Amino acid sequence: MGLNPDAPKPAKIVGVKDETPDTKTFTLSPNCFKGFTPGQFAMLTVYGVGEAPFSICSSPFDKDCLQFSIRRMGRVTRMFHEASVGDEVGVRGPYGRGWPVDRMRSRDILIVGGGIGLAPLRSLILHLLRERENYGEIAVCYGARTPSLLMYRGELEEWAGRGVKLYLTVDVGEEGWKGNVGVVTTILGNPVLDKAGAIVCTCGPPVMIRFVLRRLVELGYSKENIYASLESRMRCGIGKCGHCHFGGKHVCLDGPVFQYNEMTGLPKGISPF
Ligand SMILES: Cc1cc2nc3c(=O)[nH]c(=O)nc-3n(C[C@H](O)[C@H](O)[C@H](O)COP(=O)(O)OP(=O)(O)OC[C@H]3O[C@@H](n4cnc5c(N)ncnc54)[C@H](O)[C@@H]3O)c2cc1C
Ligand code: FES
Repeated sequence: MGLNPDAPKPAKIVGVKDETPDTKTFTLSPNCFKGFTPGQFAMLTVYGVGEAPFSICSSPFDKDCLQFSIRRMGRVTRMFHEASVGDEVGVRGPYGRGWPVDRMRSRDILIVGGGIGLAPLRSLILHLLRERENYGEIAVCYGARTPSLLMYRGELEEWAGRGVKLYLTVDVGEEGWKGNVGVVTTILGNPVLDKAGAIVCTCGPPVMIRFVLRRLVELGYSKENIYASLESRMRCGIGKCGHCHFGGKHVCLDGPVFQYNEMTGLPKGISPF
């Protein structure tokens, strides 16, 4: 038909939910992807304003809707926050390499998130819970700066009720917070898992990823089983513009999920080390 396959497809906002004071989850329908792997991202367009990459945070099994949790940062994200149900946005994707779900069968899984970094991990958690019996222990260590910045507050307990061992922490407590206080590395030793065989997936601020990777190795997790989702500035999302090109790798094609040993080879600016 001569159509650019990577032109944004129109999608309607069918739901908007406040997650934290600066983050909202948007539900788009219909799901314009044929399928995706948890950890992949899409380029979302606010018409007349611009386009930006966002992780898909919904389950790949949910064919009726597609969700993105968006934190207010600048032009595009601010306009998203001003959008409401019924508004139309553009979507193209899914892009990038997601979490290694094929390697996870029958194994213990550790998921480590920081702040809004739980978004691409939520998609993975929902994927794993759909076929819970195919995996060993599933532990989630999740931290945010304060309790009110914890994402998906209403769902965390539900995941725990469905067979996820949940460990929460905040950097600074608030009135009523009875959980752990400290950065996420302070709770990484809590889950009892088969450390040598467990697959670990982490996403969060770069400084968090750096300390998490170091602590995971100290705890005995195997480098070949550790994966992190890294962020970079992006424009095309499909390996053409060079905006996300670092040391021979395109974050949009080769990532955003990288295996530990791949990350050690990345140059400053993208490497978490
Ligand atoms: C693969 C990938 C997945 C992402 N997933 C999500 C997600 O699920 N939810 C979400 O809220 N955001 C996510 N982001 C980040 C999101 O793309 C940026 O917040 C967005 O591009 C900001 O656009 P803007 O026009 O609102 O801000 P701009 O006007 O472009 O920038 C505003 C400010 O934010 C800074 N900034 C913008 N983007 C980034 C960035 N990527 N890293 C560090 N600083 C930045 C700028 O330097 C500037 O100071 C993801 C990014 C990538 C690469
Ligand atoms: S965003 Fe253009 S090459 Fe990756």
